[in-house]
Amino acid sequence: GLKIVTIGGGSSYTPELIEGFIKRYGELPIRELWLVDIDRGKEKLEIVGNLAKRMVKKAGVPIDIHLTLNRKEALKDADFVTTQFRVGLLDARKKDEEIPLKYNVIGQETNGPGGLLKGLRTIPVILEICRDIEELCPNAWLINFTNPAGMVTEAILRHSSITKVVGLCNVPIGMKMKIAEMLGVEQSRVHVQFAGLNHMVFGLDVFLDGVSIKEKVLKEMGNPENAMTMKNIAGVAWDSDFLQALNAIPCGYHRYYYKTDEMLAEEIRASQEEGTRAEVVKELEKDLFELYKDENLSIKPPQLEKRGGAYYSDAACSLIHSIYTDKGDIQPVNTRNNGAIASIPYDSAVEVNCVITKDGPKPIAVGDLPVHVRGLVNSIKSFEITAAEAAVSGDYKKALLAMTINPLVPSDTIAKKILDEMLEAHRENLPQF
Ligand code: NAD
Ligand code: G6P
Ligand code: MN
Ligand code: MN
Repeated sequence: GLKIVTIGGGSSYTPELIEGFIKRYGELPIRELWLVDIDRGKEKLEIVGNLAKRMVKKAGVPIDIHLTLNRKEALKDADFVTTQFRVGLLDARKKDEEIPLKYNVIGQETNGPGGLLKGLRTIPVILEICRDIEELCPNAWLINFTNPAGMVTEAILRHSSITKVVGLCNVPIGMKMKIAEMLGVEQSRVHVQFAGLNHMVFGLDVFLDGVSIKEKVLKEMGNPENAMTMKNIAGVAWDSDFLQALNAIPCGYHRYYYKTDEMLAEEIRASQEEGTRAEVVKELEKDLFELYKDENLSIKPPQLEKRGGAYYSDAACSLIHSIYTDKGDIQPVNTRNNGAIASIPYDSAVEVNCVITKDGPKPIAVGDLPVHVRGLVNSIKSFEITAAEAAVSGDYKKALLAMTINPLVPSDTIAKKILDEMLEAHRENLPQF
């Protein structure tokens, strides 16, 4: 039987993970699941952990669930480690979203200054986890969701000795689901050729029963009712002429780059009227945990779909399943490029369709990205590499460099102001600075 460890086990997404493991139990015989959290997350861990125990019991599946605050104890001889933690909790996210807005810059948890600061807080912790893995379960696969997932995967590839790592996100699955829904067809008939970076991924082509329907999809996406977005991203309408010129399906997050002004205006409005997304999520979480406490609940409640990350744990379960069974199916994941996208360094992380084998994801070569998106994608990759270096070294100048080269930050002067204010605001979670 397998041993799985989930770090950040108190996450409200954990029931989705459990549901995924229950569904696949026949082919994925998990013996032990360890949910790990920290002292501040103890209460959430207990509530969600008890729901997890009720879920496996009701399903009649003999997975032994352990709750612990002791990461090292949990990691001993693990086969798979999944990570879904939030350093500084939602209060830190709130600062990432609010501070940039004061300077008329996008405030978002994985893009722009917010993404940088979340990376600076998260990377030292994930690298510590990597060192624990090396010591306690050197053969384990690390499946990371912790955002900013692209930058975090980049940091692991460059600054740890772990090679068995995969970064995961629900954006590609979400795009595929929405395309199928828009066309009114079964998801299994749709195939999307994904390539790019995390939260910067494009559908370079899309097929229905093997026939390209990209033009039709791009046309439909121009209809404001089909804006194709995630729960956490305002569904500002796309311009149809622009979409047709782009000739690739953008992900929801591309709006921050191609519609910066509209997105900023929307963020400012929302922050004044309902608070930033962190505040909305705090409310959603409160409701979710009230539900989770109910002793009569022993399934994943549908309300979880209000979270932007809906289905992301399901992606983890299919990935683990395919690695374990050497399935050879195609899944879009974050992995070492190895030449799959020509203009991105070999040793960098990309989000691309891969064949999933027992030796991990094998990226499918796409040649190169269209010239008109290559520049933006490479800017983000430069930003991620520089940010990871700043996170590891605690070098202020590197952090300033990362902030300034981010395409959402207009100048070095503003970069410095935002950086100084954010480093101060996040001081307790930035021991390296
Ligand atoms: P959350 O605020 O509920 O945090 C999850 C848990 O992490 C909490 O219980 C918290 O106590 C715990 N935690 C914090 N620091 C920890 C540490 N050092 N070690 C162990 N546990 C720690 O967050 P969430 O909304 O469940 O999201 C978790 C993470 O997953 C975030 O980084 C979020 O951005 C990311 N996420 C990614 C995707 C994706 O597409 N990859 C989707 C959704 C969420
Ligand atoms: C998805 C992303 C995640 C992100 C999440 C936010 O769009 O893929 O990476 O963290 O949603 O969801 P939330 O409900 O926390 O705002
Ligand atoms: Mn994501
Ligand atoms: Mn310092």
